[in-house]
Amino acid sequence: MIEETGARCAVIIVAAGSGQRLGHGMPKARVPLGGAPMLAHAVRGVVNAGLASQICIAVPAGDEELVELCHQLAEESGAGREVRWDVVDGGADRAASVRTALAVVMPGISSVLVHDAARPLTPAGVFDRVAAALRDGAKAVVPALAVVDTIKSVVPAELPATGAGVEKVAGTPARNRLRAVQTPQGFQLETLRRAHAHAGTLDADAAAGITDDAMLVEAIGEDVYVVQGSTHSLKITTPMDLLLAEAMLQGPLRPRWVEG
Ligand code: C5P
Repeated sequence: MIEETGARCAVIIVAAGSGQRLGHGMPKARVPLGGAPMLAHAVRGVVNAGLASQICIAVPAGDEELVELCHQLAEESGAGREVRWDVVDGGADRAASVRTALAVVMPGISSVLVHDAARPLTPAGVFDRVAAALRDGAKAVVPALAVVDTIKSVVPAELPATGAGVEKVAGTPARNRLRAVQTPQGFQLETLRRAHAHAGTLDADAAAGITDDAMLVEAIGEDVYVVQGSTHSLKITTPMDLLLAEAMLQGPLRPRWVEG
């Protein structure tokens, strides 16, 4: 654990997304999974990982139900004695939500893990691997999996005969060099703060293209290291993802699932 070396770690959980693609008519963090809101699974995973001196949760602005849930989860975990809890209003996009949470990181914290509430089943082993790489001197770390599909980049195009609007392939990056990146992503606090300060200078188009924190660290020229992610750490975006997560939690798949 990070505490063993005297360094202190905050975990930011971003849970302020609308969840439109899931189609439940409520913020994704509130969508039930195995009988509990998705956010409850994500938060319990962070608590169980046991490396946070502070837990900061960004919820949709004004969502009293999620604020109350966070208070309940803090109480359940015996909050206040060893871990400081903060609940903040998220922003208009993911990066803005991270920034509102970063603003309340307490003095004495030296590293930060940023985790998506949309990954409620991330095993403790992933948190451990990210924290270990930070301890070993990385300024930025992402957990990742090799991709199984061949990935192509595309551009808008028209079919030759009809002019119908489609896409065409612009290139095929070598699959053995591609990784699907997950969370928690780990950073030295100073590095993440610098990366987000730089993000404030981006134009609207560039800002809209920011999908993780590591991108911002890459943009300031720092190395981002990669550790092994987990298939358990799937991101719940579509109804199919939710079905799979339910099966992992409750169904017959569970006893066969051995990955950490
Ligand atoms: O939108 P996307 O699926 O990339 O969201 C990833 C994570 O970022 C989710 O946990 C979501 O709740 C969070 N998020 C946020 N604030 C936003 C948009 C997304 O905290 N404005």
